[in-house]
Amino acid sequence: MAAERRRRGAEGAREARGRARERGAARGERGGRGALGLAAALALGLCLAAAGALLAQWGRWRAASRAVSPHPAAPALPPGATGPGAAPRRFWGSYRPHVYFGMKTRSPRSVVTGLMWLQQREGAELRHTCEQSDGLARYGWLLHDGESFGLQDIHDRGLLLRTEFVKRPGGLHGGDWSWRVTARPEGAGSRAALVSLFFYVATDGQGALQPHLEDGTRLAAVTGTSEELGDFRITFLRPTADSGEDVQYSSYHYLDAWSPGLHRLTDVVRSSLSNRFVFAPPDGPRQRFVAVDAFRGLPGAAEAPRSHVLLHQVTLRLPARVEVTFESGSVRERRGALLGPALTAELARHQAAFERRFEETFGLERKGFPAPQRRFAQAALSNMLGGMGYFHGRPLVQSPLHEQPVPYPESSLFTAVPSRSFFPRGFLWDEGFHQLLLARWDPELSREVLAHWLDLMTAEGWIPREQILGDEARAKVPPEFVVQHSETANPPTLFLALQRLLGAAPLPYLRRLFPRLRSWYEWYNGTQAGPLPHTFRWRGRDPDPERFLNPKTLASGLDDYPRASHPSADERHLDLRCWMALAAGVLAEAAERLGEPAEPYRRAQEALSDNALLEQLHWAEELSAFADFGNHSRAVGLRREAVRAAPGRPPPAPRLVREVREAPRPRFVDALGYVSLFPLLLQLLRPDSPRLGAVLAAMRDERRLWTPFGLRSLSRDSPLYMQRNTEHDPPYWRGSVWININYLALRALHGYADQPGPHRERAAQLYGELRRNLIDNLYRQYAESGYLWEHYSDSTGRGQGSHPFTGWSALVVLMMAEDY
Ligand SMILES: *[C@@H]1O[C@H](CO)[C@@H](O)[C@H](O)[C@H]1NC(C)=O
Ligand SMILES: *[C@@H]1O[C@H](CO)[C@@H](O)[C@H](O)[C@H]1NC(C)=O
Repeated sequence: MAAERRRRGAEGAREARGRARERGAARGERGGRGALGLAAALALGLCLAAAGALLAQWGRWRAASRAVSPHPAAPALPPGATGPGAAPRRFWGSYRPHVYFGMKTRSPRSVVTGLMWLQQREGAELRHTCEQSDGLARYGWLLHDGESFGLQDIHDRGLLLRTEFVKRPGGLHGGDWSWRVTARPEGAGSRAALVSLFFYVATDGQGALQPHLEDGTRLAAVTGTSEELGDFRITFLRPTADSGEDVQYSSYHYLDAWSPGLHRLTDVVRSSLSNRFVFAPPDGPRQRFVAVDAFRGLPGAAEAPRSHVLLHQVTLRLPARVEVTFESGSVRERRGALLGPALTAELARHQAAFERRFEETFGLERKGFPAPQRRFAQAALSNMLGGMGYFHGRPLVQSPLHEQPVPYPESSLFTAVPSRSFFPRGFLWDEGFHQLLLARWDPELSREVLAHWLDLMTAEGWIPREQILGDEARAKVPPEFVVQHSETANPPTLFLALQRLLGAAPLPYLRRLFPRLRSWYEWYNGTQAGPLPHTFRWRGRDPDPERFLNPKTLASGLDDYPRASHPSADERHLDLRCWMALAAGVLAEAAERLGEPAEPYRRAQEALSDNALLEQLHWAEELSAFADFGNHSRAVGLRREAVRAAPGRPPPAPRLVREVREAPRPRFVDALGYVSLFPLLLQLLRPDSPRLGAVLAAMRDERRLWTPFGLRSLSRDSPLYMQRNTEHDPPYWRGSVWININYLALRALHGYADQPGPHRERAAQLYGELRRNLIDNLYRQYAESGYLWEHYSDSTGRGQGSHPFTGWSALVVLMMAEDY
């Protein structure tokens, strides 16, 4: 998984400090050389020295500023392209993936809306942002078209909340929308249970809101105005029974407060709650309950107020339904309010349209999948679409030329996210996989997302891999992980998506992208070059090998996947080499379509996919597999350090340290797993390659990579299979089944089964079996646990890691559709 999103414990903090130390050392070295130069210059005369120093200073200043300046090419997205004028249909959306239900616009400082809820019983918690620790049985979008409609079910201990929205175009500011929230008891839940729903509207540094009260306590409406929305009105309707009839007895409270920012909204509401209220329906029992009271400020918050929040709390007995309408002041002639039966009809119309389009796009019914599996696939796609976010802020960048991390200019990003609970922000390595799926649903949407990512490129040609933009995103990341290091790469998976989009991409679009794609390629080609021609090496491996069984390679995205035991400049990383081959091929094709010089990329692609050269550099005869090469020991282990207590003190806890039992030497790395498969995964291996048979055999071997749940990441007979890297660092890419790589494997097998060659039938057979295993297990785990997961156990098939994970695990939809 993308590098720094690993478990972020004390371990991680220590790693970060280790990296900082390494950078300090590198700076010292450069300083030393500078001093020598100065001494030589002194001999030539003071005047020259001064000029030289000035020049060097200027050179350093220029290089340093490039590291934190945007790329000079015209932006891939023309200015205003995502605003309400140019793209009104996508202006409003559920672009707040980190909350259970909320909407905002694609503007830098959007007014936001959202839902919180609280079950009025002992021990129940206020729900707002998606948290794994909430322990919800399941939640997620079951239907979502990525644009104008969505339906989500949230199962929270006896309470089923259904959240629906539908948009209606009109006017100049992205149109109107309506929400319907239906609350019902389920399982052990009781009809008489008391529940509070909190609907809020909040500003983010601009715009104005005005509350409209009814009977002194019911916030019936909010009117407001903002830069990009103009005038608007949000109306909170009175609750009804879930059939839509009969206004129910309810209690109303409201809050009018200022928050230091959107990231503190939950705290503002929580700190305003009081239990002094009594629910007293005329015909039922009385019950004490909790409601928002006066807001008295956040404890210890010295930050200036930034967000005006108006919140409407309605407390009622189950079942019930509440509707909310947003009406843009710029809509001149409205056909009537979008609520009640009109809303029911609109929701039904959109649902039917979604289902039709889903079948037209993926054909799962035609392929004979039963209804429950089709609903599973719809949910996987929908939660990826419903997980799209619009982020704005300034990333923090650390370059080797700066003493301290430097804020990069303000950036906006429209992107899918790996996980709404655990990783609700953009990750470069994931995004290419996300767009393989989204490009099938809506190619225009995908093109826009790619352009957004490419517009984050620095003048050096680098794209930061984890995008932590804005206060809300930052609130989810420990401070030591916020900084992005400008020497660290990440797999350029956007080329995968681009490969798929290239054929139908309009030329003007491609022309805007092209200078950035070229710079991106050059950045990798220049900064991640390996020791020999046509070899590559991930920079930024852990500098402190003694602390790890195998120093991690976060840049590769495969984190703890075993590499050479002793990091050195002599390493050759097979996966990066294959990514570069893919990138060169896509660039060559793009250049050809545009009439730009394609020759250098074609040549690079040919050299990188030359099977003889590939074998020479990466085929390990003794392993019968492709492999990394480096300074490697095949016998390392962790052991408890012997500790001696200082006189009069208890002994410190013994640490686990690495023991190297065999001297490292330059050789192939004895790890058979995903990295070994890359020449097949990216289809660089020719169908008539004499190595293809051995690669297929390793895949199908149950003692090696094959499991009933998909291909495991590391062979069971590899020395580091399922080994912890440190005491606090359990195995991650050392055995588990990951869906992104399995998708590439299926895609490749499908390709080999389609071309003449001696292994054609074998490939076809493996393809069929692997596809069935993956689909069966992902579906079974979803049915049992309620979620798609980050990765899956290779021994039981159980989901593991973060959830819901409808990032690349949602590629199961394409597996079902056999769409590669
Ligand atoms: C990549 O780098 C190599 C080595 O520096 C260089 O010879 C080659 O021209 C570069 N390729 C491209 C396409 O820029
Ligand atoms: C391999 O690593 C060991 C231990 O760090 C070092 O002493 C040795 O010089 C390295 N060998 C090469 C060829 O880099």
